[in-house]
Amino acid sequence: MKIKASLIVVTTLGCLLLAGSMVWANTETTATETSTEVVSETNAVAVETIDQSSIVPKTEADKTKGVEVWSDIYKVLSHPRCVNCHVPDDRPRWSGKHYGKTQVHGMNVQATATRMGKPGEQMCTTCHAKTNSDVPHGPPGAEVWALAPVEMIWWDKSSKELCAIVKDPSKTGGRDISSFAEHISHDALVAWGWNPGLGREPAPFSAEKTVAMLEQWLALGLPCPE
Ligand code: HEC
Ligand code: HEC
Repeated sequence: MKIKASLIVVTTLGCLLLAGSMVWANTETTATETSTEVVSETNAVAVETIDQSSIVPKTEADKTKGVEVWSDIYKVLSHPRCVNCHVPDDRPRWSGKHYGKTQVHGMNVQATATRMGKPGEQMCTTCHAKTNSDVPHGPPGAEVWALAPVEMIWWDKSSKELCAIVKDPSKTGGRDISSFAEHISHDALVAWGWNPGLGREPAPFSAEKTVAMLEQWLALGLPCPE
């Protein structure tokens, strides 16, 4: 309620060109402070409840095998069908053979903080339907269509970097490896990565195989490449 009220005040003031700059600055600070509090509270809960640091390989052989398994998991998570949505900003990417060159999403698409588009103007679902378009270079589709939350950044990460990210609950929406695998087993957007529509290369392996690899990696102590 408090956030909403402050935001409305900010918007209203924005329209009044005569608004005093002191009042403007004060109101803006209040809105920012309030939302920062909310965000850090959420993260604190996530980090507190999950700690995977005690999970380590039992033997050198487990470590070697585990790193091998991870490198196949990395082939999936770093594939264009996945990273095009797991980006550090609010611009989805167009990358992979289908697009010729890597670029930000055309048509000035902005996900905004909602990660779903500009409310009241242009949402992802303005173009992305519940199923893939059957026209070449038409919009792909799934049950839902949104950019991944901003903490889940996989774009342009090396194998070593992404390995650390996936093990850090503050960067996975509070998920441990089991619930990370669980998400892959049932999520509609993840499933789309293996059914991406006309002319797009699917992610390697399959969702089932990726889940199995994550479970195997967990049993081997979650080693990362050095
Ligand atoms: C104005 C229409 C339009 C809007 C709005 C739109 N998209 Fe798209 N999007 C497209 C089209 C068309 C393509 C396919 C382009 C092609 O195949 O060359 C596409 C492709 C994509 C791809 C690439 C998928 C892949 O890996 O091949 C992603 C990711 C994507 N959109 C995300 C989003 C997100 C997230 C939003 C909302 C923030 C959004 N789009 C809003 C039209 C749109
Ligand atoms: C169209 C955009 C889009 C595409 C394509 C996409 N994701 Fe995501 N991803 C999301 C969104 C949105 C979330 C947040 C969902 C949630 O937290 O409930 C998410 C969250 C996740 C999560 C849980 C987050 C975490 O770190 O624990 C996993 C795992 C995941 N995605 C895997 C994948 C994989 C694997 C692919 C490719 C096969 C993929 N995603 C492709 C949008 C996308």
